[in-house]
Amino acid sequence: MERGRVTMDRNADAPWSKFDPEVYVDNNYRTPLEVDLLIVRLLRDYFSSCFTGAVPHAARGVDVGAGANLYPALSMLPWCEKILLLEYAQPNVEYLEKQISSGGLDTAWDAFWDVLREAPAYRGTDPGSRVGEVVRVERANLFDLDGQRRWDIGTMFFVADSMSECPEEFRRGVRCFMNALNEGAPFAVAFMKESVGYRVGGHRYPAYRVNEDRARESLEPFSSELEIHDLHHVVRPGHEGILLALGRRNAEIAVP
Ligand SMILES: C[S@@+](CC[C@H](N)C(=O)[O-])C[C@H]1O[C@@H](n2cnc3c(N)ncnc32)[C@H](O)[C@@H]1O
Repeated sequence: MERGRVTMDRNADAPWSKFDPEVYVDNNYRTPLEVDLLIVRLLRDYFSSCFTGAVPHAARGVDVGAGANLYPALSMLPWCEKILLLEYAQPNVEYLEKQISSGGLDTAWDAFWDVLREAPAYRGTDPGSRVGEVVRVERANLFDLDGQRRWDIGTMFFVADSMSECPEEFRRGVRCFMNALNEGAPFAVAFMKESVGYRVGGHRYPAYRVNEDRARESLEPFSSELEIHDLHHVVRPGHEGILLALGRRNAEIAVP
């Protein structure tokens, strides 16, 4: 928070309708960063270990707050008959719809697929056409996920931590995501560590300062096999690294 400010920026206060996906991709993904390639390797290996022996293409996956990032969806591709990208900001919804349209997948995502296809499950898949067959986009608010719809695998990257300054909204965001997963569902959640907010083009977006303890506290009630990777990569001023949590949804109790 800035000095002297007494109020916190809540999720509903941020200029989501002005979010510019092209600027966001240019800032974050167009030139692949070492840390994202590392995250993709960890996702690939974790999901591959979870689905050993499982029927391919049978799961239903979700990426919550997908924004302008396709690598979480790509990482779920071999196991899913359907993947839903839920996103709140209309410009991001339009970006994602373009990505999944025929021939629409930006070459920016090639570098991430190159890492994924080093593992057997991903080989032999053409991501462009498979994304078109499997992935759908829906405009939705994370806070409206009420546990009625459930998925077998899920990802949420830089969302619960990067949508509000408010601790209660961070915990609620994590809870809504975790309550949308079936028992045993593998998940991956990423947070910017100790982020003080971020800019996309001319607009500022809020963040909640997550550290490893806060990440663990928020996820543990819903998780089995929880592992948190503290990645000491700083990609811009205003944060202290990246936390990647991998695990499975524990017994199917919706935690209020
Ligand atoms: C920092 S971006 C992360 C985007 C992407 N997941 C990534 O890995 O780069 C935060 C995302 O959260 C989305 N978001 C903000 N509030 C939301 C809400 N209430 N429900 C769903 N998504 C929301 C934003 O539109 C934006 O796409």
